[in-house]
Amino acid sequence: MTTTKKIAVAGATGRLGKHVVDVLTERGHQVVAFSRKNGVDLETGAGLVEALDGVQVVIDASNNATADKEIATEFFTAAARNLHEAGHKAGVERLVVVSIIGIDNATAGYNAAKLAHERELRKGPLPVQILRAAQFHELVEVMTQWGTQGDVAYVATMRTQLVAARAVAEALVDLAVNPAPESTDAPYPEIAGPRPETMAGAATLYTAHVGAPIHIIESSDPENSDREAFEDGTLLPSPHATLAGPTYAEWLEATYPTAK
Ligand SMILES: NC(=O)c1ccc[n+]([C@@H]2O[C@H](COP(=O)([O-])OP(=O)(O)OC[C@H]3O[C@@H](n4cnc5c(N)ncnc54)[C@H](OP(=O)(O)O)[C@@H]3O)[C@@H](O)[C@H]2O)c1
Repeated sequence: MTTTKKIAVAGATGRLGKHVVDVLTERGHQVVAFSRKNGVDLETGAGLVEALDGVQVVIDASNNATADKEIATEFFTAAARNLHEAGHKAGVERLVVVSIIGIDNATAGYNAAKLAHERELRKGPLPVQILRAAQFHELVEVMTQWGTQGDVAYVATMRTQLVAARAVAEALVDLAVNPAPESTDAPYPEIAGPRPETMAGAATLYTAHVGAPIHIIESSDPENSDREAFEDGTLLPSPHATLAGPTYAEWLEATYPTAK
């Protein structure tokens, strides 16, 4: 018999968070879904203790999607501190949080902020399980839009093993219900898609599939001190990673079935 839990989802309206809510609901758990839209702010802590009343586990899928390292670091570290403090007060047993594969030596932008996020989370007081994920299938469209100038989109040179946000959500729920044994020596659990791809290759598939008249140009950003890690495979999963389908091409077909 599966035991159901009362599980809160922070960032419940986001690309990942909405799948986490769906998976928890499908599996019969009691879900407390929150974000700023329903009055809970992780960065200031407003509404957090109240939202966590009776909650056993928090899955944090919140985000501040900025390339500005300072702004992103401020968000993620404040969110980690506030979740620990409010969760401790409310009697939460554990936090389950998502991070990114291959960021151990990140120095710039968003990935450096996620590394700071992991470090802040590790300070406690609550036990934390961090799952590192590859870039989501859903990110391809976002990166294409960010890079679009007229009929051209400049997409960062990046080797990645794209994974569906739904697969990441399932892995987070698994960890929330059946925690992996805690060890400071063990590597973080990882989840990635079935095969390595390039972000520009995926962006080309995306624009062709949805019929967007945009030409993709793969471009290396000389100002990004972490560009080598993007390009040399550092963001690809470790041998211990769980690999989960669908491939990006399969996901496109399923997500935009009437496109073209
Ligand atoms: N996207 C990827 O490819 C990828 C890959 C690996 C790991 N991740 C990680 O996955 C997580 C989720 O990413 P995502 O792309 O799904 O994010 P997203 O779509 O940008 O969603 C962000 C969520 O956070 C909420 N939020 C933002 N500021 C908040 C605040 N101050 N207080 C409370 N909630 C707040 C948003 O809702 P409101 O606006 O209503 O507050 C929204 O629900 C992040 O930790 C990210 O690092 C992402």
